[in-house]
Amino acid sequence: MKVMKAIVTAAMGAGVILLAMGMGTASDLGQELDENCSACHLTKYICQKLDKQDEAAWVSTIKRMNSNGADFPVDKIDAAAAYLVGLKAGDGPLCD
Ligand code: HEC
Repeated sequence: MKVMKAIVTAAMGAGVILLAMGMGTASDLGQELDENCSACHLTKYICQKLDKQDEAAWVSTIKRMNSNGADFPVDKIDAAAAYLVGLKAGDGPLCD
């Protein structure tokens, strides 16, 4: 039993590391959106749109925000749209 537990613990540890490596970019984007997009309004606005618009719509939303005066890095808009379209309604950090 002890051996089994050690294997399970080791496997879970490796899983967490792999997850952290794979998610690095996405969670950075989440944080960047959280900080950048909360300058004018609650991220609740973004949260309400999760699961409701496609990637192209997110690209145009973010571009519109930049024309509203936001300062979201242009080279990250596509990645941010892909990230947002992958979130489900209620997903953090934008819905926290
Ligand atoms: C400079 C101020 C400002 C910043 C920063 C800002 N917004 Fe907005 N946002 C607005 C204004 C003003 C509105 C309402 C008018 C509109 O929809 O264009 C709005 C509305 C919204 C809406 C709801 C309306 C819709 O059509 O979906 C969403 C979603 C949104 N913003 C997302 C974002 C995202 C994502 C970011 C970060 C990339 C962001 N906002 C950053 C000013 C800002």
